[in-house]
This record gives sequence, C-alpha cells and structure tokens, in this order.
Amino acid sequence: MSRDPILDFFAKYIESELGMVYSDSNYFQLQNRLEEIVKLKNLSGVQELYQTAQKGMGGCLKQLLLDVATNNETSFFRDPKYFNAFGSLVEKHIKGDLFREKELRVWSAASSTGQEALSIAILLNELKAKHSANMPFSILGTDISERALEKAREAKYFQLEVQRGLSTPQILKYFSKDERQWMASSELTKNIQYKKMNLRDTHYPYDGFHFIFCRNVLIYQSVENKIDILNKLTARLVPGGFLILGVGESLIGLRQDLETSMLDNAVVYRKKEQVLKAA
Ligand SMILES: C[S@@+](CC[C@H](N)C(=O)[O-])C[C@H]1O[C@@H](n2cnc3c(N)ncnc32)[C@H](O)[C@@H]1O
Repeated sequence: MSRDPILDFFAKYIESELGMVYSDSNYFQLQNRLEEIVKLKNLSGVQELYQTAQKGMGGCLKQLLLDVATNNETSFFRDPKYFNAFGSLVEKHIKGDLFREKELRVWSAASSTGQEALSIAILLNELKAKHSANMPFSILGTDISERALEKAREAKYFQLEVQRGLSTPQILKYFSKDERQWMASSELTKNIQYKKMNLRDTHYPYDGFHFIFCRNVLIYQSVENKIDILNKLTARLVPGGFLILGVGESLIGLRQDLETSMLDNAVVYRKKEQVLKAA
C-alpha cells in the first residue's frame, strides 16, 4: 500500500520524540491533528506545514505538534477500582503497616489536564479526615503536553468535566464556581506540583515515590519503549512502592522485579524488596 510521505514524515518525528507509534490505520487521526495545527497557525494546508517543518522544527512548532499529537483524554477517578485499591493501601499505611516514612510521595506520570492528580489529592484528604491521621503527602504531576499542563496548573474545569467522576458533595466541598468553571480549592492544589517531562527522557530527575500512577500512556508505546520506561519508573519507587497502570496495560512477561497483586479487583504492581537491596 502506498503511504503519504508527508504523514510518514510527521509520524516518524512524533515517534522519535514521544515514542508514540501511529500505525497506518491511525493515519487519518494524524491527518486530523495536523489540520488542527494548520488552523491554529493560519497556514494554507498540511503541505505548507510540511514545508515549514522541513526548514526546522522550532520550539513553538515542536510543542504544538506534541500537544496535538497526544491524546489528553482523562477524567476524575477514571477507572475507580484503581482508586479503591490505592485507598486500601493508603489505609494500611495510615495503620502503620506499609511504609516506614510518614510522608507519602505520589507521582502521576502522565497527568494530562490534572484530574488524576486531583483525584489522588481528594482521596488522600478524605482518608486523612476519616482516620484523623497526620499524614503529609505530596503529588507530582508530569506530562509532555504544555497545553495539558497549563490547564492542570490552572485547575479549572467545566461542569461536564467535574461531573465525570466526582460526586456532588465532592464538587461542592473541593471546588468553587466562577461564571464558567469550577476551580479546585487550595486545600487540594497546595500539595500538587506540575512539571513538564517526557517519559522517553534518558534520565528522570524525580525519585523516592511510594506510588506511581502511569495510566493510559504506555499503550501507545512499542514494547521496547515500554520496557525502557518501566525500568526507569521502577527505579524511582521506594522499597515496596507500587506502580499503578491503566486497564489492559499488563506487565505480564515484561518484568521480574515487580510482584503482581490483585486488590479490590484491580491489578497493582509492587517493587520487590530484594531487587531494591541489590540495586
Ligand atoms: C490519555 S492521557 C492519560 C491521562 C491520565 N493518566 C489518565 O489515565 O486519565 C495520556 C497522557 O500522556 C501524555 N503523554 C504521551 N506521551 C508522553 C510522553 N512520552 N511523556 C510524557 N507524557 C506523555 C499525553 O500528553 C497525555 O496527557
């Protein structure tokens, strides 16, 4: 089958930057995304975008391409069973049965527009209140998309967005409304920091996490990239720390240094202690 050389060019560029693979059957999606840039930049068409890119993928064009190439779909408490599992583990920690350190460090490693990090913050706040626990925590949210991070930092969501996953009492307790949007309270946002980071980077500058959420992003990566990213994420967990992946993002056959446990019907992965000691 003959392929469009322009789409090939952009698909290869995106793969080299993000590790995201556009298969032939997804080329229509790539075409739509390039047309989005054409509109944003007021160009005559994809051909002109290609000619511009040939002259050099400058910072602005590169970021725009990465922003539109990524799928930022997310929602509050997406796939709730993972949050139930996370909540059970946090309760174990509150009872003193999990980690030595009091302060919990959580990383949302493809945080998109912030709903995942905020859901973690809501759950931690609720568990602290339920158990009258003194449990400091911090949440790091990272993503490659500047556009998604901008919204995450702003922490403002439309009615339809807050309704996707939050109960009315949660909305009223943790958000306040301006004319158009619901803004997350500082009680939630004060513990969250957002940074731009590409999971394909060779070095991850953050370390010492009890939980890493890396959901609905590895699905777009090749097996080699997945293994490489999982190695780097696992190295950033504390002894016995947990890796939480998305539905269908199984590690079967990919790793020996993580134990699989089923909790509240969700599969979570725990870094083995002896691997840590050897590392
Ligand atoms: C579908 S969203 C998932 C958001 C959230 N984790 C969830 O499950 O709801 C995938 C996110 O991964 C980000 N992403 C894609 N490739 C990435 C990479 N190489 N490094 C960092 N983030 C990446 C995208 O920008 C997007 O925001």
